[in-house]
Amino acid sequence: MIQLTINNKKISAAPGSTILEAAKQNGIIIPSLCYMEGVHKFGSCRICSVEVEGARTLQIACMAEVREGMVVHTNSKKVQKTRKVLYELMLSDHSKNCLSCVRNQSCELQKLGDILGVGENRFDTGSAREQLDISPSITRDLSKCIFCRRCVTACKGIQGIGILDAQNRGFDSVIAPAMDRPINSAKCAFCGQCTVVCPVGALKETDHIERVWEAINNPEIRVVMQPAPAVRVALGEMFGYPVGTSVTGQMAAAMRALGVDDVFDTNWAADLTIMEEGTEFLHRAIDALSGKKAVLPLVSSCSPGWIKYIESYFPQLIPNLSSCKSPHMMLGALAKSYYAESIDVAPEKMYTVSIMPCTAKKFEAGREEMVNNGVPNVDAVLTTRELGQMIKQAGIDFRSLKEEQFDDPLGQSTGAADIFGVTGGVMEAAIRTVYVIITGRELPFEGLHVAPIVGLDQIKEATLKLENVLPDYKMFEGFEVKVAVTSGLAGAKILMDQIMAGTSPYHFIEVMGCPSGCICGGGQPRSEDPDVRTKRLKALYSEDESKVLRQSHLNPSIAAVYKDFLGKPCGHKSHELLHTHYVDRSSENE
Ligand code: FES
Repeated sequence: MIQLTINNKKISAAPGSTILEAAKQNGIIIPSLCYMEGVHKFGSCRICSVEVEGARTLQIACMAEVREGMVVHTNSKKVQKTRKVLYELMLSDHSKNCLSCVRNQSCELQKLGDILGVGENRFDTGSAREQLDISPSITRDLSKCIFCRRCVTACKGIQGIGILDAQNRGFDSVIAPAMDRPINSAKCAFCGQCTVVCPVGALKETDHIERVWEAINNPEIRVVMQPAPAVRVALGEMFGYPVGTSVTGQMAAAMRALGVDDVFDTNWAADLTIMEEGTEFLHRAIDALSGKKAVLPLVSSCSPGWIKYIESYFPQLIPNLSSCKSPHMMLGALAKSYYAESIDVAPEKMYTVSIMPCTAKKFEAGREEMVNNGVPNVDAVLTTRELGQMIKQAGIDFRSLKEEQFDDPLGQSTGAADIFGVTGGVMEAAIRTVYVIITGRELPFEGLHVAPIVGLDQIKEATLKLENVLPDYKMFEGFEVKVAVTSGLAGAKILMDQIMAGTSPYHFIEVMGCPSGCICGGGQPRSEDPDVRTKRLKALYSEDESKVLRQSHLNPSIAAVYKDFLGKPCGHKSHELLHTHYVDRSSENE
């Protein structure tokens, strides 16, 4: 261990730690802004400047490593003055419409001003950049960018894409796609990870709140709302609940209190997705085992950021994708057909709103493939953050709401659907059902969990040997199914490169566009809890384990929709309403 002194306190720190890390571990907080734990690459804001005895200039604590005998002062007069000047310069061309900014009261720049005690701003020049860049999923407000480059780290360092970077020089500097183009004309996956790390209001989801209020307030329109699995374990954070608190019943009550007509659950359609995608896998595997032409590995398709990524960067692998629409699209399609018919409402008079942990779902809702009988499957997509905002706007006291149930017939779900919200969950849910179909027996694992694919590793894999299969599936006897799971687009690239090189050993791959899966999607509440991923993961597995029915094929309302309306999984009607096709985007936005 290295011995050093910070603010007259003798401390020890592991070799290779930065001053910022060493200080934090010893209860000394150094203000920071651009710093991102675990992935920090370069210090750009310099707010963490500290004085190191013997050094000619101030050092930036997030980059400077500790040295034996080092003496550091984190709060000297010189440090205080420097931080204030840096802050004032940052503020000098930052938009001042704080009261109407979406990040008002959750803005890290505001918070920092409070910590530094900056009163007046001597250098206020007004914003030099007034440009608003609105894409289907993400809105960039250049007047608020403070050049911290966290979005650059998220896009390039975490997701491995690199759409955003510094462009131009001097006063024309801007964080933008190459050649300062709008984000919609770059090969952005719209995952929204940049909106989670942006400390101010420069990057945010494209607003759908107004259009949803309009629909709710229109008596001619029947509004259907559905929340994704991961929303229920994060929404509570916006109302002061600890990270990892599940608020399913209160969330259903809040949606009803907003004035929504039907409160359905995307979980219901997650069970439906398993029936469709599981059957699709079975068909492809049977063809492959019978010597027919079949494209394997099958790759999951419920993450729209992932879909946009593969369409842009690996279009050759589009045939590997499952043709299943994502669960909320399936629910939208059935709400406007199966359900609308049953209550005698014209599909064009129905307005479907999805609550998603994801910004890419906004883009997905606008895709021309997501239309049946001339009406879009989903009309608007709100992020978890936007739903929280609407609940606040409506003056609903969320914490005092009593738990309520989802509505029938698209509201009941099994535990398998809950785990769709976390990396590995879709694959585990599929395995639970496909195993029963092939063997007639329940998965023989403790708690029905496929342990090797549970957890937050970037790439996970499992092998499942099929034995004593049912007579109809005798081609599977002794067959070892190999599956892989990844979350985040950097992991997806590794698995796709393997397929391209012909070295992929897998038969079925699950990909989620956001690291850890939807629990940490681009539309989820921002959290400072370092264990946010684990806590939300555990909450979803608890939801699963608390249910009586934990396998999608056991959901009685899914059985009913096949009996009364769809026929069979992957049948004609399913193909018409629940399946889609994809587009080669490799030549778009070069
Ligand atoms: Fe260290 Fe920004 S936090 S330079």
